[in-house]
Amino acid sequence: MKGLEGKRVLITGASSGIGAGIARVLAEAGCRLVLHYNRNEDGIRRTEAACRERGAETAILRCDFRQPETLDAFFDAAAQAFDGLDALVNNAGIVPKVPSLKDPQGETFAETLAVNLQAPYRLACRFARHCIERGQPGVVVNNSSIHGHKSCEWFSAYGASKAALDRLTEVQAIEWGQHGIRVVGIAPGVVPVERTEQILSQEKVKKEWIKRTPLGRYGETDEMGEAVAFLLSDHAAWMTGSTLTVDGGLIARGDYPFREDIRN
Ligand SMILES: NC(=O)c1ccc[n+]([C@@H]2O[C@H](COP(=O)([O-])OP(=O)(O)OC[C@H]3O[C@@H](n4cnc5c(N)ncnc54)[C@H](OP(=O)(O)O)[C@@H]3O)[C@@H](O)[C@H]2O)c1
Repeated sequence: MKGLEGKRVLITGASSGIGAGIARVLAEAGCRLVLHYNRNEDGIRRTEAACRERGAETAILRCDFRQPETLDAFFDAAAQAFDGLDALVNNAGIVPKVPSLKDPQGETFAETLAVNLQAPYRLACRFARHCIERGQPGVVVNNSSIHGHKSCEWFSAYGASKAALDRLTEVQAIEWGQHGIRVVGIAPGVVPVERTEQILSQEKVKKEWIKRTPLGRYGETDEMGEAVAFLLSDHAAWMTGSTLTVDGGLIARGDYPFREDIRN
């Protein structure tokens, strides 16, 4: 893809799932990658090996986003790995499923916002400052979710964090366009990852999701990587402030009863 060769990209949450898919696709496209993880050291080693197989230069950094005081030093270390960064992919996230009344003091709520919203905010600010000081353009890609549009029971923290992330994408795009910094996002639908594989592979669960997905299947982590690659590339040079839904059509449909026979 145009403009990706040699780009220095920090990907958060690259130790598994979608982050690992993004890393593989960007490695294939010739990017140099700073791969972040928190706890899954085996996972980040696997991602690194896959990226190196594809010829990419890589560096690995650890940071727990529940500790906001460590974020600045983390970003600075990431920026040193390849003497600067051209792009930031805010992918790391947690997906707690908790009824609101089981979290009345909002501990889970606060932790979710810390990882899914505060960290992307802080890292994006640091990245924008980095670009402005160097007089260079930059791209931020936020990994949101279809839960940013509409959510469901047990997702008060997650839904709120992703809806807020979508607004953040818009506002920072407005603020930083003048500096040549684009801020965009992806909103994935259902993409089986190590964390969800066991549930999503159950026939009953799969049938329910597939029925609601016009393209008739789950998404794949590398497909999310392809969407991110597009957004980072020069093909998306005039895109900013928007979040691309990549969900097989899942949220295009309202929650209306299904027709018995949908053959055309
Ligand atoms: N899979 C889907 O269907 C789907 C759909 C829509 C959106 N998303 C979004 O995609 C992103 C990646 O999720 P995933 O589905 O690929 O799940 P995943 O495999 O569990 O990946 C989550 C990543 O976030 C990192 N992370 C978790 N807690 C962290 C913390 N406290 N500090 C720093 N990093 C932390 C994890 O690092 P360690 O494991 O190393 O600790 C891991 O690399 C999330 O933002 C999620 O909301 C996923």
